[in-house]
Amino acid sequence: KETKDQLVIDAGQKHFGATMCKSCGMIYTASNPEDELQHVQHHHRFLEGIKYAGWKKERVVAEFWDGKIVLVLSHDPSYAIRKVEDVQELVDYELGFQQVVPRCPNRTKTFLFISDEKKVVGCLIAEPIKQAFRVLSEPTGPESPSSKECHRAWQCSDVPEPAICGISRIWVFRLKRRKRIARRLVDTLRNCFMFGCFLSTNEIAFSDPTPDGKLFATKYCNT
Ligand code: ACO
Ligand code: ZN
Repeated sequence: KETKDQLVIDAGQKHFGATMCKSCGMIYTASNPEDELQHVQHHHRFLEGIKYAGWKKERVVAEFWDGKIVLVLSHDPSYAIRKVEDVQELVDYELGFQQVVPRCPNRTKTFLFISDEKKVVGCLIAEPIKQAFRVLSEPTGPESPSSKECHRAWQCSDVPEPAICGISRIWVFRLKRRKRIARRLVDTLRNCFMFGCFLSTNEIAFSDPTPDGKLFATKYCNT
């Protein structure tokens, strides 16, 4: 029962401008057959990947008016692990990550935000860490070497600081952003990562943040 409607951003120029699919969020040019084909392929895979039918035994760690957060641990049944892998694949594709093997896969904790429409609209993957390097304020000027090599290479302090929990991925479905889903995922992580204590923002670290991730993390940690 997916809606095939499309939201035309560039009203009046339907055949030239970019279109955003109302169900999968992909932005593409509807008049371009190659783009359209790419969309059809992505559309199906994406909606299949975020579909959440519900599990008999699910670990609900938070509930909200617009959804709930389910925690998946590495020893959970294979249907839960498979869903996490499917979602991670979509997230990694969007982030442009190559296959990254987590350092301690059996200690990885995955938090899925499930919307009322039974879709996985947010995902946070966390793992225990011992130390992290604080990101320094962005290097300025075109001369700075790190900005040439890779726009992700923020300058980091070379003094390690103790940390407890590393966020290796945080992602929210494009059409559900800026509704505090990421904030609620991190709040829940801080509450559930270690039994009996609420982690401070100094004890969590974001690994290799994207520009979006950095904006979110800066805002989150200061408020
Ligand atoms: N630009 C500016 N400020 C932002 C942005 C942004 N893109 N995103 C979040 N913020 C700030 C805002 O101040 C926001 O509060 P406001 O909406 O009241 O102003 C506050 O952070 C909280 O934002 P949320 O609504 O909780 O964040 P959201 O649910 O939209 O998710 C996220 C943020 C996860 C970064 C999302 O934009 C996303 O999935 N982006 C693509 C994937 C990505 O880049 N993930 C980070 C990778 S880094 C890593 O995984 C370690
Ligand atoms: Zn679509």
